[in-house]
Amino acid sequence: MAQRVAVIEGEDASPEAVRPTVALIDALGLEPGIEWVYPPVGQLGIEQYGSTFPAQAREQIDSCETTLFGSTSGPSALALLHLRWGRETYANVRPARWWPGCRSPLARPEGIDFVIVRENLEDLYLGCEGEVEELAPLGLMSTTARKPVADLGPGRFAIKVITEAGSERVIRFAFELARRRRAAGHRGRVTCSSKYNMLPRTDGLFRETAERLAADYPEIELQCFIVDDFARRMVAEPEELDVVVLPNLYGDILSDLAAGLVGGLGLAASGCYGDDAAYFESAHGSAPDIAGRNIINPTATLLSAAMMLEHLGHAESAKRLVRALEAVYAEGKHLTPDQGGAASSTEFCEAVARRLES
Ligand code: IPM
Ligand code: MN
Repeated sequence: MAQRVAVIEGEDASPEAVRPTVALIDALGLEPGIEWVYPPVGQLGIEQYGSTFPAQAREQIDSCETTLFGSTSGPSALALLHLRWGRETYANVRPARWWPGCRSPLARPEGIDFVIVRENLEDLYLGCEGEVEELAPLGLMSTTARKPVADLGPGRFAIKVITEAGSERVIRFAFELARRRRAAGHRGRVTCSSKYNMLPRTDGLFRETAERLAADYPEIELQCFIVDDFARRMVAEPEELDVVVLPNLYGDILSDLAAGLVGGLGLAASGCYGDDAAYFESAHGSAPDIAGRNIINPTATLLSAAMMLEHLGHAESAKRLVRALEAVYAEGKHLTPDQGGAASSTEFCEAVARRLES
């Protein structure tokens, strides 16, 4: 029986990366194969049901094994909210690996091969903001300004929440990943980072949780760094990293930095995993500036698709796809403009398809 996968092509230049990715996966000749399902999300949803995320779309997504998601500029955002918060995909896995041909700005990118595990649901991402004056009844004191927060004057606040359970599950996920990577020859190290000096309660809880769980993983080394220090370390010695675990907002920011280290957002893959669901999306945006030009780099989507294949039990095919990508970069003749080439997205994917055959 074919495995059913929902495809959400996204907006702007995103479909130009998603469509050839679907075609390349079909070319892998998987057994069992994949049946692609296109839920009525975004523009498609408006045309068919008058809504960007009708119940039919949610049902189709939930009935599939997983979702391949493009990038959204807004119309597909409700689907994204469902895939993350609705289905509790709490671990956002964002690999950063350099291989020959990737256009890294670093003099020595060799050896960069780490994975960011970003907590995907809480922290400042609760979407809970308001007017400072609403805080008056709470009598909250600022420990730095040494006065009631409500006395700061007109302004807005946002709420940052780090929970015990939310931290524990994502940090455990990171340790488990480090354990699997260690078995495959990696260093066996988890690096945890947050602003625990300034935010000893929230970010401190994240760090304490990592320290507590480390006892369950004696073969894995735990390092903890304050996040500003860690940002510099990421640039200065990225080859020291193996698995990095971060609260949501730092993970969002530093995963773009990680992509920048190896050659840009065109290479930034990601997979979001929960206990009952997973979905796969590139970490880049919808690239409106290059929409319709057929020059978006499909690598990020293809690498995300490779993560998806692994999740679906097609590890060998995932490796084949990644090897074909590596070969195209090593040859360097059919790369997209972001990697210094002149190939279109289509020409790039044709080159990958040829490598799949050989
Ligand atoms: C990402 C994106 C999203 C995020 C946006 C689109 C809400 O930047 O997946 O990294 O901040 O999580
Ligand atoms: Mn981001």
